[in-house]
Amino acid sequence: MILTAVICIVLGIGLILLCIFLPTENNEPNEPQSKDANVGDVIPDEPPSEPQIPVESGNTQNPEQGETPVTEEPEQPSVPVDPEPVEPEIPEVPETSSEPETPEVPETPSEPETPYVSSKNDPLLILANVGNPLPEDFEVGELETVQGNYKLDARAASYAREMISDAKSEGITLQLCSSYRAISLQKTLFENKYNYYISNGWSAEDAYAKTATIIAIPGTSEHQTGLCMDVVTPSYQVLDAGYAETDAAKWLAENAYKYGFILRYPKDKQDITKIIFEPWHYRFVGIENAKLIKDSGLCLEEYLETLE
Ligand code: DAL
Ligand code: ZN
Repeated sequence: MILTAVICIVLGIGLILLCIFLPTENNEPNEPQSKDANVGDVIPDEPPSEPQIPVESGNTQNPEQGETPVTEEPEQPSVPVDPEPVEPEIPEVPETSSEPETPEVPETPSEPETPYVSSKNDPLLILANVGNPLPEDFEVGELETVQGNYKLDARAASYAREMISDAKSEGITLQLCSSYRAISLQKTLFENKYNYYISNGWSAEDAYAKTATIIAIPGTSEHQTGLCMDVVTPSYQVLDAGYAETDAAKWLAENAYKYGFILRYPKDKQDITKIIFEPWHYRFVGIENAKLIKDSGLCLEEYLETLE
């Protein structure tokens, strides 16, 4: 009986212990499992650590921008790679840009030093005077209108038009009264002047000589070349020395060379040109020649003597 009672007590205690043990086994593993699982899960769950990236994106106040930094994040590691190729490119730029600038500077100043060299053979310096008649078969070049019915050689016409326009803008009215002449017109003008002196009692010889100082003997007038023109002004249209005192004549004397024209028959060169002082008669020789002639103070005949 006693043994039976002991066995029952032992079994009872065993049952009690079983009842106590079973529930504590289910709880105890939970705590350590959760710790171990967390450690083991760190790797696969690290993506959740990426949400820390939005911490940077937290700089972006718009929730939409939160995704942008996430996609940019993986690119950031490549940033240190990019700067490396960029750096070597920077020094290459200054090296190549500095080299071409240096040689260009000394080259440019040496080029414009070539002076203009005139020549007796310059077609714009064709000489027509009593000692140098034009060839009998001389033919004028292409003609262009300058003003009204007055025409000049096309090489001179545009310069004449520009001169007239510029003078006008300065309050000076230049009015043409003669330009290109066919030899027939030159003959008519010469005969009219000659007959004037004859009708005033001059001898034929004196009338001819006097006329030749005013109207070039036909065949020797540069008006036949289309390279000269007679210019007056509305307030003074008489061809005499008094015209030189007008604003128009003064303007021409001062500025015509800029357009390639020279005063062809100066007052102090009559013994050379054999023509009276004609402050209205301007001859085109080109801008370079005109400047050289004006600066030299020579007439065309003298200037040509200085050329080869
Ligand atoms: N009046 C100038 C000289 C000429 O007739 O050509
Ligand atoms: Zn003239």
